[in-house]
Amino acid sequence: MASQKENAPIGMFDSGVGGVSVLREAVKMLPGEQFIFYGDTLHAPYGTKTKEEVLSLSRCVAEKLMDMGAKAIVIACNTATSAAAKELRAMYDLPIIGMEPALKPASLLHRDGYVLSLATPGTIKGEKYQQLLEKYGEGVESLPCPGMMEFVEKGEVDSPALHAFLDELFAPYQDNQPEAIVLGCTHYVFLKKAIAAHFPGVPLIDGNEGTVRQLKHKLEERGILAVGNQGGVRFLSSGDAEAVKLMEKLLNSEE
Ligand code: DGL
Repeated sequence: MASQKENAPIGMFDSGVGGVSVLREAVKMLPGEQFIFYGDTLHAPYGTKTKEEVLSLSRCVAEKLMDMGAKAIVIACNTATSAAAKELRAMYDLPIIGMEPALKPASLLHRDGYVLSLATPGTIKGEKYQQLLEKYGEGVESLPCPGMMEFVEKGEVDSPALHAFLDELFAPYQDNQPEAIVLGCTHYVFLKKAIAAHFPGVPLIDGNEGTVRQLKHKLEERGILAVGNQGGVRFLSSGDAEAVKLMEKLLNSEE
């Protein structure tokens, strides 16, 4: 019979709805798990806040999830991972899994052109990203994208306003297309189609699958992977009911 730990839920959080792109992957790869996804909509965006602010918000959400009995925490947000993963791991004993901007896989596609890496200002400034750049940063153009996650928060993944925003953001890169694009923010995964329209044929790489593989590995290592159970998802938000509706919609969306 499964122990209580195996049956306990996995807590996952993001500043808003973006982390649902990680959840979608997790539900596919770990169908026996119960997930509680918490979107900190009220405090979004995290990407333009200081490290201290994001650390304090992340700690608060992680503790809520632990109070609900989470056996592991997934920080489904690059910005919060950068600001808080190390600190939270030092504070708590349960597995804490974070995101990593996919600079390493993108570097394999780098030849004589460049890789365009999209992330929040907070992620790009953070120590984790800077360390990754030292290892895999050859030919990488880092582009902070303040204002971009807000479209996903409004449920806009293909609107004229979004395309106007992307036109301006990507104008300097249009004449010389990159060899690969890193989606270094979990919100941007929902904008894949819109971004691809500006860079036809360019591979878009995110870190979602790698994070879920890491989660599975950590659960196996501790002997707390749920197998043979009926999995499920529960959504929570510090915002309003509309935010939860959007999370449900995005979980079932193709892109
Ligand atoms: N989804 C978050 C990330 O992966 C950031 C969005 C934000 O709150 O700025 O970085």
